[in-house]
Amino acid sequence: MKKEIFPKNGLKGNFTVPGDKSISHRSVMLGSIASGDTEIYGFLMGADCLSTIDCFRKMGINIDVTDEKVTVHGKGMYGLSSPSSTLDVGNSGTTMRLITGLLSAQDFNSNITGDSSIQKRPMNRVSIPLKEMGAEFEGEKDGKLFAPFGIHGKKLKGIHYTLPVASAQVKSALILAGLYAEGETVITEPEATRDHTEIMLNYLGANIEHKDKDIICHPVKELYGKTIYVPGDISSAAYFMVAGAICENSHIILKNIGINPTRTGIITVLKNMGADINILNEKTVCGELVADIEIKSSKLKGTVIEGDLIPKLIDEIPIIAVAATFAEGTTIIRNAEELKVKESNRIKTVKDELSKLGADITETDDGMIIKGVNSLKGAETESHNDHRIAMSIAIAALKCEGKTIINNSECVDISFPNFYHYIEEL
Ligand code: S3P
Repeated sequence: MKKEIFPKNGLKGNFTVPGDKSISHRSVMLGSIASGDTEIYGFLMGADCLSTIDCFRKMGINIDVTDEKVTVHGKGMYGLSSPSSTLDVGNSGTTMRLITGLLSAQDFNSNITGDSSIQKRPMNRVSIPLKEMGAEFEGEKDGKLFAPFGIHGKKLKGIHYTLPVASAQVKSALILAGLYAEGETVITEPEATRDHTEIMLNYLGANIEHKDKDIICHPVKELYGKTIYVPGDISSAAYFMVAGAICENSHIILKNIGINPTRTGIITVLKNMGADINILNEKTVCGELVADIEIKSSKLKGTVIEGDLIPKLIDEIPIIAVAATFAEGTTIIRNAEELKVKESNRIKTVKDELSKLGADITETDDGMIIKGVNSLKGAETESHNDHRIAMSIAIAALKCEGKTIINNSECVDISFPNFYHYIEEL
């Protein structure tokens, strides 16, 4: 589908965005292995999270979906059954990585596949430590593993593993395997990554400890189904934070957004760039910090983004690149080579697509250098079937002279159904 977007200033709105993708995935996965029902309010009905629901239904879990809530009828730690067919994770890296950890420890075998993008996303990062725990995989070629692949469920043992790359997906896969392993599993992170798995597991009755850079996972006998309220996704809110900052005369309040400190790099960076952002009504819900975020138009300036900030904003780099394009001076992004193995190679796709609009971006090995420009001009662009690329172009288009076209624009449904409708409402 082609989407046409025209320039707009004076964005005003007071609204929330769809539920957090990471938390929605985890609520279905953990609800499935808990005893009793887990009622989930604010669940993200995006394609990725629907893939997770589909996988767990194939393993015998009854999941009711209504407009109001998702109810997972958990069957306990040993209640999953051998999948009725190959588990198709669609475009979802989180589904693929996390269920691989969980399925490695079951007493049945399973097969995992996904779309053409997922088949290029590295699984070694998960299979190497899982094999150390005793897991077995089928489908490795030249020591590398990509979907489609098979998992032979095994009795696992706990290990101490230092993550070579900061990745919440790898950490979470090892925690899920560790719940079933003999002995403790200790994971050392190079930098802190999102900790939604740890928070939700503890909320449902597990004992996951954090000591400095170590996460200590103790085996679990039982988890207990509970009500989960999923906050708005800060990664989705980020598009409107940047829109509010760069479009003149704007004032936007984003309600009920998750502000877990492992996810708020976007707020830190926008503040460093001089944006006018306020955090209001902070509270804790189901162990997660939640607040309203207010943003007004402001003059932005270039900044440097690197080191331990990167995992806290890894999914927001495409939209940060848009903010940087409209800032005065140069923005440098370093230590972000992980962008190359996301839904698209985001160093390249951000550069290629924003350059079509007139942005000045230089690709580097581990990030990019973005020079602020005075104005952009609408052009025909490609989403590369990457939801975050499509949404970033759409926000840039609000500040472009003339019409911008986004081809294959429907991929926004992966994480933000009705995204274009939100823009129209603003
Ligand atoms: C996610 C972790 C991040 C992030 C992804 C969601 C998660 O991936 O980019 O969108 O839910 O755990 P990595 O763990 O590969 O950094």
